[in-house]
Amino acid sequence: MQLCPTVGAKAYNVAGVGWNLRLVKDDMKHGGNIPQRTAVNGETTIGQKKDGELSNQNEMLAVEFCGMKFATPQVLLSGCVGFGEEYTRVEGFSNRDVGAICLKGTTGTARLGNAPHRVIETPSGMINAIGLQNPGAPYVVNDILPALDFNETRFIANVSGSTIEEYIEVTRLFDDSPIDAIEINISCPNVKEGGVAFGNDPAMSARVVEACRAVTNKPLITKLSPNQTDIAYNAKRCIEAGTDAFAVINTLMGMAIDIEQRTPIIGNNQGGLSGPAIKPVALLKTHQVYQVCKGHNIPIIGQGGIMTAEDAIEFMIAGASAVGVGTALFYDPLVCPKINAGLVEYMARHGMSNISQLVGTLQLN
Ligand SMILES: Cc1cc2nc3c(=O)[nH]c(=O)nc-3n(C[C@H](O)[C@H](O)[C@H](O)COP(=O)(O)O)c2cc1C
Repeated sequence: MQLCPTVGAKAYNVAGVGWNLRLVKDDMKHGGNIPQRTAVNGETTIGQKKDGELSNQNEMLAVEFCGMKFATPQVLLSGCVGFGEEYTRVEGFSNRDVGAICLKGTTGTARLGNAPHRVIETPSGMINAIGLQNPGAPYVVNDILPALDFNETRFIANVSGSTIEEYIEVTRLFDDSPIDAIEINISCPNVKEGGVAFGNDPAMSARVVEACRAVTNKPLITKLSPNQTDIAYNAKRCIEAGTDAFAVINTLMGMAIDIEQRTPIIGNNQGGLSGPAIKPVALLKTHQVYQVCKGHNIPIIGQGGIMTAEDAIEFMIAGASAVGVGTALFYDPLVCPKINAGLVEYMARHGMSNISQLVGTLQLN
């Protein structure tokens, strides 16, 4: 499978990576260009269809997540959709098709990210090493959030840092903003300090969660790394530290080599592997984390290679209450309504009235 060749060129400019691919400092300023969308009676409805037409579908797909109402279980993943507005420039795309959108990883001050190349397509996936390019938390809170339409969907901040103090500072800023929830990214493999260095150490993970918990009452979602020995133990420590939910999983570390130059293709030498290639790993990790979560009523956003409704259904059976869609958007920016339709078709076939009935229904052999 190849990254969408025609829309894909457009998608590259919009897919979180108008942000991801830029290195020029002036480009860090991106405000003023965010299209406003009109709310339908102030309600979030799926897609652009009319009231009534979809009321049954709305009820079937609506899920509750940490007290938030998601219109569908789909969540657009951090780093794949910029700051929530980029895909709205693609004809036929609607933020209303998804339950929530995770914004690009945000740090205390602006970062330009890593040197190119920052993405490379691999068999059944891609490697990225963006290096957390972002305009800094004050800019996101003051200039980007006010332009988002919170009637369309829920918006989740993705918080990163090199130190615990930076995680606290960014979480504080988002706490004092209209953002719906805060995801703590302790699993970014593409930065030298913080990120996965915190996320692969259960004691450090718990310290970051505890520190962020102390400065916000908003729902706190901890994004776990697959690059660690015992993800279930880490999840247990994060629950004790006060997380409300998990995102499982972030990317797996990988490398691609230019055999003529005998150098790594990615400027950062290594990067995070995403897409269908990681789905089996992500499913197992979701299942393992669910074993820890189910006794505590802690929901999971399952993610890693979800491309179709069938993939999403697998994750929900494994224990995910919501499902993340990231790399799939690079192949098909209009994949979300197709996944919604596939979910509804499956539920009709299995006599289900709400998609949450699927969660954790895996029967082991
Ligand atoms: C280009 C790109 C940038 C990403 N940036 C972030 C980020 O800033 N913060 C984060 O927590 N995850 C980031 N991720 C990881 C995704 O959010 C997601 O967890 C991962 O790609 C697995 O899902 P997928 O296979 O559906 O893409 C990024 C992924 C990609 C492909």
